[in-house]
Amino acid sequence: MGFGDRLRRRGVLGMNRRNIEFTQFENPRRLYPLVDDKLKTKMLCEKAVIPVAPVLGKAEYHAGVKRLVADLQGRGDFVLKPASGAMGNGILVICEAVEEGWITAGGRIITPGDLAYHAESIISGLYALGGKPDVAFVEERLLIHRDFEPIASSGVPDVRFVIYRGVPVMAMTRLPTNRSGGRANLHQGAVGAGVDLRAGRTNFAIVHTTPVEEHPDTGVRVVDYPLPSFQDALRTSLRATDETGLGYVGADVVVDQERGPILLELNARPGLAIQLANRKGLLPRLEKIRNANLEDFDLDERIEFGCRIAEAS
Ligand SMILES: Nc1ncnc2c1ncn2[C@@H]1O[C@H](COP(=O)(O)OP(=O)(O)O)[C@@H](O)[C@H]1O
Ligand SMILES: [Mg+2]
Repeated sequence: MGFGDRLRRRGVLGMNRRNIEFTQFENPRRLYPLVDDKLKTKMLCEKAVIPVAPVLGKAEYHAGVKRLVADLQGRGDFVLKPASGAMGNGILVICEAVEEGWITAGGRIITPGDLAYHAESIISGLYALGGKPDVAFVEERLLIHRDFEPIASSGVPDVRFVIYRGVPVMAMTRLPTNRSGGRANLHQGAVGAGVDLRAGRTNFAIVHTTPVEEHPDTGVRVVDYPLPSFQDALRTSLRATDETGLGYVGADVVVDQERGPILLELNARPGLAIQLANRKGLLPRLEKIRNANLEDFDLDERIEFGCRIAEAS
């Protein structure tokens, strides 16, 4: 039996099937712009009183970059990012002001000129889906929750939830590393740790595709670790997803030290590595949800249903 067959037998969802049966079938195309543009997602959340990171400024055209950078003079920390980026690409996490400009989460020095150049690149579409012209925006930097500190370095962890027809399917927390430059994206080298939906505790962990038990920088055990405010984060992810009308979503939530759970972004094509981090396939859970009649389920009942399915798989 080949590798592909073995994965399928364990209920691992592959790229083709995700694209056809979940992304395309469950997510109407006309709704994509709501989640493909992080500024639009923020507006949607604000209307529903779901907490998001406040925007400090944005530049839609090259002419706006000078002003954007000038407005940041004297500010110690912020995050510059592309409105239509993905996988952490193009995100610059700034932690501290210094004489030359600022220091990034990855320890690099950034001058105002560098910052302007980065914003220009974002606007040109360097980091955007499909390379289309994009909007550069600046957000307040979220702060790592105290209880996450032992298991992350140089950035804010997030929690990714996969949600299908309003039911939570699987979760993982992503823990930044020195290599990932303050970003909690697996593609940047962050640790991905699967999380038990009911207990809110990590079960397994990976870096890229390799299983790990400890954080590569701090050496602290990342498995069997209880996450702060996990149930609140889960509710936040579901409430935001409910606003979109999308059927298959990856929702990213950051638990901020002061503000609690903050909705960071939603994805209409969530990645598949969450299965590696949990050592569980998505398919058996997705199929149970697809076959269920959820019509009269409220949010709490959907959570209970998701937890029960997760426990049984
Ligand atoms: N405002 C912020 N404050 C601190 N860290 C942030 C902020 N925005 C993003 N990050 C870091 O960058 C990662 C990726 O951000 P996200 O908005 O999800 O973009 P992407 O679509 O590229 O994944 C987050 O998981 C987090 O670690
Ligand atoms: Mg993300």
